[in-house]
Amino acid sequence: MKIAIMIIIAYLLGSIPSGVWISKIFFHKDIRQLGSGNIGTTNTYRVLGKTAGTTVLFMDILKGTLAASQPYLFHVNGINPLIIGLFAVLGHTCSIFDHFHGGKAVATSAGILLAYSPILFLMASCFFVGTLLLSSMASVASIIGISLTTIVALLIHDWILAAIAGVLSIVVIWRHRSNISRIFNGTESMVPFGLGNYI
Ligand code: G3P
Repeated sequence: MKIAIMIIIAYLLGSIPSGVWISKIFFHKDIRQLGSGNIGTTNTYRVLGKTAGTTVLFMDILKGTLAASQPYLFHVNGINPLIIGLFAVLGHTCSIFDHFHGGKAVATSAGILLAYSPILFLMASCFFVGTLLLSSMASVASIIGISLTTIVALLIHDWILAAIAGVLSIVVIWRHRSNISRIFNGTESMVPFGLGNYI
């Protein structure tokens, strides 16, 4: 019963469409109609600026972290926090508050990793930032970041993390289908910094 309640809470937390709500409440705009149409940090930053983008990043990470922290907070043993966290990612991508649409799963996945292992979260963040600085493309950084995290999980023999990160890699790649098409036809948006702008 406790596990079922944690799963429902995780799904509802993940469902909070931070980008949509921030764009509507503070800017009277709909982020889904602007830029790439994605509700995540990159598009919010692109369209509404640094403060809004950073707020969405913080909220999307936080909802994953809170969801996956429940087994620790409620002293429930016998369930891996990553498994509870998966339901937050499900909520983020298929939100009950957004007609079962949602984002691309990157920041919320990072949030569940933060609850599970802050060191692995830092490492995954380094993969993301390093790739972003090289490619100037958030989509490439997202896909490489989660994929390398899966490889690290395999190398350290953390099989549950490897399985969950593997599932999340598939979700992240699937949600970036339109970005992947744009990368191949040379029209993917770039952040205004990084080596990708010069090569
Ligand atoms: O996390 C989303 C990012 O990887 C891509 O966002 O807006 O360029 O599709 P966007």
